[in-house]
Amino acid sequence: METIISLAKRRGFVFPGSEIYGGLAGTFDYGPLGAVLKENVKQLWWRMFADGRDDMYRVDAAILMNAKVWEASGHVAGFSDPLVECSHCHKRFRADHIDDLNTCPSCGKKGTLGEARQFNMMFKTNIGAMEDDSSVSYLRPETAAGMFVNFKNVVDSMHPKLPFGLAQIGKAFRNEIAPRDFIFRLRELEQMEVEYFVRPTEWEQAFEAWRVSMHEFATAVGLPESTVHELEVGEGDRAHYSKRTIDFEFDYPFGRKELWGLAYRTDFDLSAHQTGSSVDLTYLDESTGERFLPHVIEPSLGVDRTVLAVLIAAHREDDLGGEKRTYLALAPKIAPVKAMVAPLLKNKPELVEKARLVRAELQKVHPAIAWDDNGNIGKRYRRQDEIGTPFCITIDFDTLGETPELLDTVTLRHRDTGAQERLSIAEVAERLRTALA
Ligand code: GAP
Repeated sequence: METIISLAKRRGFVFPGSEIYGGLAGTFDYGPLGAVLKENVKQLWWRMFADGRDDMYRVDAAILMNAKVWEASGHVAGFSDPLVECSHCHKRFRADHIDDLNTCPSCGKKGTLGEARQFNMMFKTNIGAMEDDSSVSYLRPETAAGMFVNFKNVVDSMHPKLPFGLAQIGKAFRNEIAPRDFIFRLRELEQMEVEYFVRPTEWEQAFEAWRVSMHEFATAVGLPESTVHELEVGEGDRAHYSKRTIDFEFDYPFGRKELWGLAYRTDFDLSAHQTGSSVDLTYLDESTGERFLPHVIEPSLGVDRTVLAVLIAAHREDDLGGEKRTYLALAPKIAPVKAMVAPLLKNKPELVEKARLVRAELQKVHPAIAWDDNGNIGKRYRRQDEIGTPFCITIDFDTLGETPELLDTVTLRHRDTGAQERLSIAEVAERLRTALA
């Protein structure tokens, strides 16, 4: 983890939140490359979970919602973790993360951890100028509610036929007792969630189909099958709304831990919001004339945990040309930089001019084509390897026709093997197009 965290900071992927003020636990900021990596993960998710399908609708709901939403959803009463406090050092811990409740994990005193009490993880705030009970609201702890409360709006405006789903990406906030492990357990996080509405009798097939889609997404972002594991969550450990949950776990350096979740939420939410709002949320099935509350399958994916797993899975160290090197074997689709173009020498205007033209040509395939004319070419390659750039393209005197049969050819260098090929500019563009398809 230390290696990943340090690379992430050094190369502009992820920085500690509010760092110059000493940080803020549970928050991290994405830097120039991290912001693009994260965006690419989200774009792939949109494509695979929503836009590439005919049965999905996007929503983008407000983070602040009427407090009644969270009363109805059960979060005010039940979205909590067990908290214990040491009477000696006054440190607080999540009781379910401590192996020996008789010993304080911080100061080592015995018998100082008091009784566990339930600590609600929602961030409370006040809406408007009055700070009293009537103005209380919460930062959403999951994006899901924004989709449940808009179920009727989408049905009335888009007239979707069952089964259909709503998809949303957005921030969620949890006042975690013990944020930890870099961007694994955050207080401000981002989720990619689907609420998929089905006839009650059809939940199992939808559950299976989304389970497959989640594995396909894992592969698409570059997580090897051998690192992603399913855990059937037992009844006592499931969230209050779920009748079946599968956790997708990933082999992080700090252990096998939850990556994503797939839950069968039944009609818990629509039913709760129907009762809470007194608005009829039933769906009219025109083929049968029947009215009912659809049931819900929810694939829920944390963006930050995905980015972390992607960085871990992609991180490699090897020996290339007798030198140790570090590289990120990122899938080209999610790599923040798709290729780097370099004139062999920066003080030869004819090389620089040609390289600019090559870059402009490749930017027609994808805009994220970097330019690097600084230092020796080997060092430039290594810099790109470390941020996961799949291809480097070098323009030399042969490109300009010094060897006539090589006119308008360039060197294409592959990140993972360091192998180099001599190709025409059009062939390089085609390679790039294929890698990004
Ligand atoms: N709507 C369902 C839901 O929110 P969850 O299992 O609590 O279920 C879903 O969260 C996903 O959100 C998790 O599998 C994880 O990827 C991510 N997640 C949850 N809490 C997180 C935290 N504190 N920091 C980072 N990601 C988190």
